[in-house]
Amino acid sequence: MNSMEKVYGSGWAAWWRKHSIALQIGTTISCNIAYLADTGHTRKAVTLSMILLGGTTLYCFFSRRRKINARDLIVITGCNSGLGYSLAMHCRAKGAMVLAGVREIPTVPNSNAVEILKNKGVIVHQVDIADEQSVRDFRHKVKELLEERQLVLRALVNNAGVMVFGEFEWQTQKLAEYQVNVNLLGTMRITRELMPILRENHSRIITISSHCANESLPGISIYGATKAALLAWTTSLRVEVRKYGVEVVSFIPVADTEKLTVSVKVTIMGVTISYPYPYPNACESLTNGKCPLSKGDSATYSALMPISKNYPSLRMIIEFSLNDENNNSQVCFKIDGQVTDP
Ligand SMILES: NC(=O)c1ccc[n+]([C@@H]2O[C@H](COP(=O)([O-])OP(=O)(O)OC[C@H]3O[C@@H](n4cnc5c(N)ncnc54)[C@H](OP(=O)(O)O)[C@@H]3O)[C@@H](O)[C@H]2O)c1
Repeated sequence: MNSMEKVYGSGWAAWWRKHSIALQIGTTISCNIAYLADTGHTRKAVTLSMILLGGTTLYCFFSRRRKINARDLIVITGCNSGLGYSLAMHCRAKGAMVLAGVREIPTVPNSNAVEILKNKGVIVHQVDIADEQSVRDFRHKVKELLEERQLVLRALVNNAGVMVFGEFEWQTQKLAEYQVNVNLLGTMRITRELMPILRENHSRIITISSHCANESLPGISIYGATKAALLAWTTSLRVEVRKYGVEVVSFIPVADTEKLTVSVKVTIMGVTISYPYPYPNACESLTNGKCPLSKGDSATYSALMPISKNYPSLRMIIEFSLNDENNNSQVCFKIDGQVTDP
């Protein structure tokens, strides 16, 4: 289900919910025009109709402008893995020209994400956002592409980022500077370098933030601080560049869970074994809520554990884990148990 369907639902009812306000306004205005024409105010009716027609044309023009097309260039940093890679593939599939920045071009061909991106028609170029010269060279590449292929720079996606996991006291000053230099100063560096082009093209600056910008977690205090700083920066920048027609977006990625599979481990007398759970699809055992689940959704999972008569009457620890499609555990719990006679 896409986000539009989540908001409006699907089918005719959804169509009505989405367009009802526009339809009501349209009907009311049409009735007024008809009334004016009917009561002899033909000139007023014609003027109002012309204004409406103009407004609708402008609305359609600007909403069309927001859709990605083949003349759009989208620049994304940090594309050799994760979100950057997926975004580059997605934008390319939507028909845009994509310039994917990667920190290091791998020397071994045919074995990595870069090759897959290139095969899909994505233009890959090296950029280390922590390096002044590399960022300058990248700007030349952007300019060259825009001029050679007659493209419009639609968006710069500041995706590249690093996270060092560990309590604050354990992290050296060098590690702190590394995260600040990439996440915060690196993002500022490339944005500043591309600013004249962004202004000229009325582009959009999209900065990948994190939920840690609002609620930082233990173990990633420095990373959280860099993301919070980025959020403050984008908030000011948004107002500063509005006058040039440049939009600034701070985007927090949230993972949806499409599938949930059950993994059960049983520990008996210190030995842990995988238990062949007969109902591996946890989505089918949700008593309220439905897959896919989004962040913030709540659902109740009902577990059924068949006990065979052959099981020994021993104390055991049963560990249940519900894993998403990437095999990351979304929920897990442990219970003590013992098979007893009925
Ligand atoms: N994954 C999440 O759950 C999550 C949640 C919230 C926010 N985010 C944010 O989303 C963005 C992408 O994260 P991800 O999960 O996709 O992580 P990822 O797979 O580690 O991707 C990070 C990318 O940034 C690149 N990079 C690192 N240092 C760079 C530099 N100096 N110059 C240019 N590129 C550099 C990395 O390249 P190398 O591999 O070559 O170093 C990599 O391609 C990050 O900004 C992250 O903070 C992610």
